[in-house]
Amino acid sequence: MTLPITVVTLFPDMFPGPLGVSIMKRAEEKGLFALSTVQIRDFAFGKHKTVDDTPYGGGAGMVMRPDVVAAAIRHAKKGSPNAKVVYMSPSGTSFNQEKARQLASHEGGLILLCGHYEGIDDRVLQAEVDEEISIGDYVLSGGELAAMVVVDAVVRNIPESLGNANTLHEESFDIQTEAGEVLLEYPHFTRPVEWEGQTVPEVLTSGHHANIQKWRMDKAYQKTKKNRPDLLKGS
Ligand code: ADE
Repeated sequence: MTLPITVVTLFPDMFPGPLGVSIMKRAEEKGLFALSTVQIRDFAFGKHKTVDDTPYGGGAGMVMRPDVVAAAIRHAKKGSPNAKVVYMSPSGTSFNQEKARQLASHEGGLILLCGHYEGIDDRVLQAEVDEEISIGDYVLSGGELAAMVVVDAVVRNIPESLGNANTLHEESFDIQTEAGEVLLEYPHFTRPVEWEGQTVPEVLTSGHHANIQKWRMDKAYQKTKKNRPDLLKGS
């Protein structure tokens, strides 16, 4: 099963970028996902290939035209007709691990629409977009970096994509308490056992698996309480 992912963008040269190395490179070579791009400007009209115009009602910035953007999305849909169309936008719903898992299991694949300028004419969002997703409460210059973040997180959640399936289940956001709370990751250590005066916690070299497990859960809980208390119940 190959997950088709098409990025609809004015800057296809930005891809694959970081998606062409390491785990993402191997995942694509294994056929777990296939990344392609569609250049929005190829669907613009006239000599100047204009993709944007001034906003009705006035105001700063330019807005991407619905006819041009829709033509680009429809072209992408021809290649993957059952793909979910996602618009990368700071006004979208928050992206998180659960959303990454959901998107990874959508077998029809993904079309990621990247905006620039002030935004995209709302009518094309109504007509062609299934979901609007934000990767955080800050504004990027365009949707491309956000799309890369989404692709990386989604592909990691394709079951065969990490060498060791266990890796995925003991990462931040995959550790759960008995109360069902999701915890950040516990700290990791490797050789040397002593480094610049700091030693590896003794329990980790004890070989006592139950104690190690308990220590890790305690540490994960403490770290979550300190860095992300909002993740804990009763917060
Ligand atoms: N485009 C610009 N800012 C963004 C954000 N925070 N998330 C997703 N897409 C964006």
